[in-house]
Amino acid sequence: MNYSLKTGQIEKQKYDCIIVGVDSDKILSPSAKSLDKAGNGWISKLIKQGDLGDKAGQSVMLYKQPGIAAERILVVTHDETKKLSLNQYKKALRHAISAVKSSGADKVLSTLHELEVNDLDESDKLIESIKVFEQAAYSYNEFKSKAKNKNPSLKQVHFLAGTGQKASLQKAIDTGMALSKGINKAKDLGNCPGNVCTPNYLVDEAKAMAKRYTALTCKIISEKQLERMGAGAFVSVSKGSDQPGSMIIMEYKGSKTDAKPHVLVGKGITFDTGGISLKPGASMDEMKYDMCGAASVFGTMTAIAEMKLSLHVVAIVVAAENMPSGGASKPGDIVKTLSGQTVEILNTDAEGRLVLCDALTYAERYKPASVVDIATLTGACVVALGHHASAVYSNQQTLSDKLVSAGEQSGDRAWPMPLWDEYQEQINSPFADMGNIGGRSAGSITAACFLSRFAKKYHWAHLDIAGSAWVSGGAKKGSTGRPVSLLTQYLIDCSKNKPKAKAQPKAKPKAKATTVAKSKAPSRRKKA
Ligand code: BES
Ligand code: MN
Ligand code: ZN
Repeated sequence: MNYSLKTGQIEKQKYDCIIVGVDSDKILSPSAKSLDKAGNGWISKLIKQGDLGDKAGQSVMLYKQPGIAAERILVVTHDETKKLSLNQYKKALRHAISAVKSSGADKVLSTLHELEVNDLDESDKLIESIKVFEQAAYSYNEFKSKAKNKNPSLKQVHFLAGTGQKASLQKAIDTGMALSKGINKAKDLGNCPGNVCTPNYLVDEAKAMAKRYTALTCKIISEKQLERMGAGAFVSVSKGSDQPGSMIIMEYKGSKTDAKPHVLVGKGITFDTGGISLKPGASMDEMKYDMCGAASVFGTMTAIAEMKLSLHVVAIVVAAENMPSGGASKPGDIVKTLSGQTVEILNTDAEGRLVLCDALTYAERYKPASVVDIATLTGACVVALGHHASAVYSNQQTLSDKLVSAGEQSGDRAWPMPLWDEYQEQINSPFADMGNIGGRSAGSITAACFLSRFAKKYHWAHLDIAGSAWVSGGAKKGSTGRPVSLLTQYLIDCSKNKPKAKAQPKAKPKAKATTVAKSKAPSRRKKA
């Protein structure tokens, strides 16, 4: 979809449809008021007649009126609060776009960013609009011989802007489009079937991205090299498959400084059968989504490269297939990880932590400012938090707070979970330094405890996205693109608060020196 700004008097705008809001208490938004006036009280008359109903989330399509240039006006009712929550705002947007899509209009002017929303400024509201509209426009038809919706009618969405707002709102449009591109990238990779989206497919994706963006480079470490290097945990998973695994490293240098990078590590199990500890057959197809951590890393790198974010970011994707075969690991096998610590593989289905632990050790060489791993790690996480929030584990409170806050701001929520020492005991092994499972209770926590043993040298957080990365079964089945929004917001926040590149010549400071650098980072709402 194409997005741009439009200034001028609303009644003179020639569009197939103009979207305006009315709250469920019948108070018209400023644009609705202007149109009402130009149409001789036409909208208020319809409201009086009861055409609009009084529930939030309803709409009426009004057709051409004298005094108004547009063909249609879509009046959307939203909740009757002075300020909407982010979710209420998104609900109104979703409702509007679905009504517009079924109308056949292909050029639309939206004014819904006039609604007041908690903690969101005008720019944020435009970004959220683009995210919702892009989500509504998304479909994955790659493998349908007769694809529907290849040419959706809705092609252009314009947002009404005051003349003074143009520069800042154009930046918001660019940010919203960059973010949506990243989210869609993550969705496409997630939805792609396991026979196509293999570890090598992810390798090719990284190479293509390095070609597309000058600030991005990539390096591939093959399974053989990883074996020589001593990444025995990664290899213990990948060796069961005919498809060769890889560690994919993408480096984004958006700032000219030699600043310490923020590292993202993604679980890229392109299909998880469970290995010799084979999974049951029901819904096993959904284990093609076991690379959604990696997909979110590709999506986030796309978003920040599109935004030209001023930051140093390294992405490490561990790509492998978890298969049962004559070469596969068996329960009871003991392997040596890249860190030197040994692991007794008690269940080959707990493979995510095995590939991730070696990537976490590898990350040490970057002397990272922070490391965040993202993984569809445990079914237990879905039991704990359901589908609304990703789980956050961290060895540093500030990092955990930053991620939770980025999730809140971007409407891509995450919730903190404990990493207490008491849980560590569950993964003790009589034969190795640790086992790869911790018994029936607290499965998401013990998986995080396992990872924490490989992340002692830096500030680290782990996002378990098993419940948030895709929608299971049913008509809405598909990748959600989460947590690209959260991660991108987190990196935007990092770029705004990064320390200055080089120390200033030391004049004796009278007041306390500040380490906060000004940045040209895209605008997003301030921390609540
Ligand atoms: N990829 C799965 C986790 C998963 C399962 C996510 C179902 C979403 C839905 C992971 O590799 C796995 O199999 N984990 C096991 C761990 C267990 C063997 C300790 C699980 O959660 O059952
Ligand atoms: Mn598994
Ligand atoms: Zn898995």
